[in-house]
Amino acid sequence: FEKEAHLYPPEYEGHFESLVMTAETIRSRVRDLAAIIKEDYAGMRPVLLCTLKGACPFYTHLTDALQDLCQGYDMEFVRASSYEGTSSSGNVIVSGVKPESLQHRHVLIIEDILDTGTTLAHLVPHLEDVGKPASLEVCTLLDKRLEEPKKYVAKYVGFSIPNHFIIGYGLDYNELYRDLKDIFIISKEGISFDRSNLHS
Ligand code: XMP
Ligand code: MG
Repeated sequence: FEKEAHLYPPEYEGHFESLVMTAETIRSRVRDLAAIIKEDYAGMRPVLLCTLKGACPFYTHLTDALQDLCQGYDMEFVRASSYEGTSSSGNVIVSGVKPESLQHRHVLIIEDILDTGTTLAHLVPHLEDVGKPASLEVCTLLDKRLEEPKKYVAKYVGFSIPNHFIIGYGLDYNELYRDLKDIFIISKEGISFDRSNLHS
């Protein structure tokens, strides 16, 4: 890919294998998603529940597009961290959301990426249980194509993508690369990079 066309901090030089999608491609699809959400939630005021930290850039651009469409919403945030350990089917710890803020509301979870579905298969029933929302759906920017069936299927999907480890636009590897406009496949150099080399 043409490195010149993409902006990134100099400390990331050599850390990308290939470009997956540009900021412009993301922005355009995010506007489409906003239009679909506006139609489906006509006459309603959904609670847009952002899953931290990864979905933050997607959330920012999606809410911006909804503002342009004069679609109202309330903002809530949740932290869902999975203890991976040896397998990907680890426990999911949910924190930071007040159950009252979801009660009797139409809640739309905004996710960065759906992989095996482990995270959402834990998060969705948990929020239904403690929050008692009127409805609960998921909008994920990315959905990885897998061989095996997913534990959770999202109603709204931005892009279906091949099964590679990707970074950028909120997605991290060891807390790095969230600060990229575009989405890339990480290189071997990126994977083995020692972040203690970075200034603080
Ligand atoms: P599951 O398997 O629970 O995975 O659907 C969802 C969570 O796993 C993380 N994840 C990734 N993070 N690049 C990342 O930076 C990736 O390619 C990737 N795939 C999965 C992410 O935290 C997501 O919420
Ligand atoms: Mg996530």
